[in-house]
Amino acid sequence: MSMVADDLVAYLDGLNKLVLSAPVDGRADTKVTVRPIALRGKAFFQLEYQCGAQVRHRNVAKGQLPELFERELDGVYRQVVLCTNNETRQYIRKANGSYRCTAKDESRRAAPSLTHNRAKEYILREGENIPALVDLGVFTQDFRIVRSKYDKYKQINRFIELVDDAFARLEREDVTILDFGCGKSYLTFVLYYYFAVKRGMRTRIIGYDLKADVVARCNEIAQRYGYDGLRFVVSDVTRDALYDEPIDMIVTLHACDTATDYALHYALSRGVRHIFSVPCCQHEINAQIQKGGDFDLLLGHGLLRERLSALLTDAIRAAVLEDMGYSVDVIEFIDFEHSPKNLMLRAVKNKRPGHRRLEQARALAAQYGFRQTLLELTAQEQA
Ligand SMILES: C[S@@+](CC[C@H](N)C(=O)[O-])C[C@H]1O[C@@H](n2cnc3c(N)ncnc32)[C@H](O)[C@@H]1O
Repeated sequence: MSMVADDLVAYLDGLNKLVLSAPVDGRADTKVTVRPIALRGKAFFQLEYQCGAQVRHRNVAKGQLPELFERELDGVYRQVVLCTNNETRQYIRKANGSYRCTAKDESRRAAPSLTHNRAKEYILREGENIPALVDLGVFTQDFRIVRSKYDKYKQINRFIELVDDAFARLEREDVTILDFGCGKSYLTFVLYYYFAVKRGMRTRIIGYDLKADVVARCNEIAQRYGYDGLRFVVSDVTRDALYDEPIDMIVTLHACDTATDYALHYALSRGVRHIFSVPCCQHEINAQIQKGGDFDLLLGHGLLRERLSALLTDAIRAAVLEDMGYSVDVIEFIDFEHSPKNLMLRAVKNKRPGHRRLEQARALAAQYGFRQTLLELTAQEQA
């Protein structure tokens, strides 16, 4: 047992990262990075094996790491860096296979232990080996954020944090998600990475979009990285038949105009438990609304009319969801500077249906002379 193996046992509780590089035996995995993760509330370590542009992951229970290290990794990499909460230690392999510690840096500030919040820091770190994000142009080849994609990166990271808040404590082994209007699918890939790789869950995600070329490219990338549970389908979500087995979550991120309504309606009609929806271009009401009451003052200026229409649209969506048995939070999911379209409807199905808000929404629509897609789809269903 080498000095590194000894130190690994000694520092296991505070271990933040272990990086092994420069293999001595020409093995294909040029680098192995070990990090703590929390899976279904339990402490694990995730080993990330890097082989050229390919990476694969393996999760082991915390207590099994020393044994795995001794069996498979000890002595076969020239350089090892071990980071704990308090210090960083570097080791170099000697000719006889043992290690010597060449540097210690004890200046690191003590970090809190691996609580839920601590685990959240590990969601989508810059420098994390997520090769699909390199293909999608969000990360550079060395996993730095592409400057022009910084806002997108912030949005996705926050989106995943909110998903993590909802799922972290659930003892689930599998998950099925539909993404409506997935576009270039930054979010879709990261959702897959979060559930399948980070949390080790059986994950099925389908992204729908109108654009055949974008869908084909996303499928190519998913295949390249062996993301078997991730696929993309060319569909018009307003009219095509979609996946119809049990679904745990529906997400939309800036799906255009009424595509959001069809996504929400799909979730309602299938009793999908979790919805995370960030609407955009709410044009529908703006194109129809007429003077009719107390809000008339707001309708005399184009900009105010547009904003009022967008607010009405999302207020009606929230009202429909609430009366269909969902608890709804309307939140600013990201600072305005990272996207002006920063309102999220976060909904979970956990209560009895009602009708009061639906009635209020219908009265507003009648008074101001507009139709709203989700309201109409719900009415058709209830008729
Ligand atoms: C602004 S992009 C957002 C893409 C992605 N969700 C993101 O945030 O990066 C909106 C996407 O919705 C897609 N879309 C709009 N209407 C759609 C519909 N009826 N069915 C499927 N996709 C739709 C568009 O093709 C476009 O890719």
